[in-house]
Amino acid sequence: MENGALSGKTAVVIGASSGIGLATANLFVDHGAKVHAAARRREVIEEGAAGVTAHALDISDSEAVWRVVEEIGDSDGIDILAVPAGMNFPERRFEQLTAEKWDQMISVNLSGAFYAVRAALPYLRSSEGLVILISSVSGRWPDASGPAYQASKAGMIELAHAVGFEEHTNGVRCTAILPGIVDTPILDNRPEPPSKEVRDASLKPEDVAQACLFVATLPPHAYVPELTMIPTAIQAFGKTSIASPPV
Ligand SMILES: NC(=O)c1ccc[n+]([C@@H]2O[C@H](COP(=O)([O-])OP(=O)(O)OC[C@H]3O[C@@H](n4cnc5c(N)ncnc54)[C@H](OP(=O)(O)O)[C@@H]3O)[C@@H](O)[C@H]2O)c1
Repeated sequence: MENGALSGKTAVVIGASSGIGLATANLFVDHGAKVHAAARRREVIEEGAAGVTAHALDISDSEAVWRVVEEIGDSDGIDILAVPAGMNFPERRFEQLTAEKWDQMISVNLSGAFYAVRAALPYLRSSEGLVILISSVSGRWPDASGPAYQASKAGMIELAHAVGFEEHTNGVRCTAILPGIVDTPILDNRPEPPSKEVRDASLKPEDVAQACLFVATLPPHAYVPELTMIPTAIQAFGKTSIASPPV
């Protein structure tokens, strides 16, 4: 793909200090986009992503999300909004969940995405723009990621589809990307972090960034509502378990 494929476009990436978001922000810059990159750890964005404008933002803070998105939209417009911000915690089994933990998960992983897309909507309508929500295969079939995480990721998929359903006549596309396991720091929060062997066989953040670039560089008349990407050797569609051999 040519390097200027996103030139003239403004992209906002929320959750851009690490992993998939950082790789996506860097890839979008490489392809000529003007990138606004946000996360709570602004200084980490500045260390890892050259050529972006970094913003400190907690996506679960609806007023802060509105303010930052509006500032960006008013100054540069918004062609692409990508939301990779997300979290999980080690105490994820249903019997371990409390109302407080549940609310924390939903507020970051699901409500945060809603706040961002809602705030960006006027700018996306003006630009006939694109939303990319980084959900997960955990939102599609059961696995060990925990009911709160799975519910948040399933909600994110349906948020993407419903926004796409309502907004396509305004030229706005909303894509849910569902990665399988990706070798990023979020895996350190598993009750038992995966082995080096599993990490090596996992997707890399740059792979998912390529999926983001793919949807972001399609012509406006081509809409991908959902894109699933899994690591060939250790996951199959509908099957997360890496313990049992393929059948
Ligand atoms: N890795 C996987 O196996 C995998 C698989 C499927 C889907 N996903 C999803 O992919 C997305 C990216 O995760 P990753 O794997 O790249 O993990 P990661 O390296 O841990 O990155 C998570 C990003 O989310 C940001 N974030 C977390 N809480 C936030 C908040 N309250 N406000 C703003 N930003 C916040 C973090 O930034 P700050 O901490 O600086 O705020 C960081 O930039 C997540 O939604 C995750 O659920 C990951």
